[in-house]
Amino acid sequence: AQAQQTVKIGLILPLTGPFTAIGRQVEMGARLYMQQKGNTVAGQTIELVVKDDGSVADTTKRIAQDLIVNEKVNVLAGFGLTPLALATAPLATQAKVPQVVMAAGTATITEASPFIVRTSFTLPQATEPMGDWAFKNGIKKVVTLVSDYGPGIDSEKAFSGVFTKAGGQVENLRVPLANPDFSPFLQKVADAKPDALFVFVPAGQGAQFMKQFVERGFDKSGIKLIGPGDVTDDEVLNNMGDVALGAITTHHYSVAHDSPENKAFVEAFKRASNGTRPNFMAVGGYDGMHLIYEGLKKTNGQGGQALIDAMKGMSWTSPRGPVSIDPQTRDIIQNIYVRKVERVNGELYNVEFATIPNVKDPVKAAK
Ligand code: DHB
Repeated sequence: AQAQQTVKIGLILPLTGPFTAIGRQVEMGARLYMQQKGNTVAGQTIELVVKDDGSVADTTKRIAQDLIVNEKVNVLAGFGLTPLALATAPLATQAKVPQVVMAAGTATITEASPFIVRTSFTLPQATEPMGDWAFKNGIKKVVTLVSDYGPGIDSEKAFSGVFTKAGGQVENLRVPLANPDFSPFLQKVADAKPDALFVFVPAGQGAQFMKQFVERGFDKSGIKLIGPGDVTDDEVLNNMGDVALGAITTHHYSVAHDSPENKAFVEAFKRASNGTRPNFMAVGGYDGMHLIYEGLKKTNGQGGQALIDAMKGMSWTSPRGPVSIDPQTRDIIQNIYVRKVERVNGELYNVEFATIPNVKDPVKAAK
């Protein structure tokens, strides 16, 4: 028998600090995949090296450099926030190491290196359908409130573009990403009296937003809550209470997605994590590992350019539904679902009620 070699995957995530929830979900998703499929692929042993960047971009970059030079990793993966993915991109290019972005969502990320491939989503991809849905459902005036960095600005522009083109009226507000106080912004929303408030905050921050939303009496204001699905992410949603009921969001994953693949995924995830619900970040990690495993099968264990090329055009059935990697952009093509928060068997869920199939990132599709 041939001696086995090792393929090393460096998984860099925020596992301390304010964005720990994102890192934990991605890590648990990745580990679940390995637990289910084993650690041998194409005759090679897969070794996962997990590192915490505390969501500081300079740290992500330093860790990536160390993993490339000293650990000789074959793949870099993770990237919980946009600045962390962007800081690493030049290293992936220089070392010709595939960088699998499992979480971050700013559209331009895949253009930062030809070695980047993404299994999460892009904000414009998830958000444009919200602009359509809102106008067609009688919403004429909207205030947008987004975290003031890449993905927030992407979602603001995607929504505002589609919604105003349809004939809607929009006012844009931005809130700092770190330790946000939503109160002064919510006062402006109350004064503007829109039909709906559109919100993007990163996964995990929805809980803090919703607390201030209730404190300001918005649950009784008649102003609808809409946005991409990050604000009602499946991990924090169940603790939000009745205030979240009726929120309409568009996104690529709901824990309530009705498919045999998702039922099996959710059950296994909860079993492996003391009952924690997976959210869209967990699915990004799980699918990212799938892409690496299937890519390695195609290259017979080879990494570098061959592995990136093998990943292009790959398609599979994810817990979220059918997905593929766009061979031109290395971004994921996937269904976007329109969902409404409902109480089902005593728990809050984003219940999908419409599907826009096979959505590409619209920013790159327009180029
Ligand atoms: C990012 C994007 C998200 O949609 C999210 O929920 C968290 C982080 C990001 O790209 O930084």
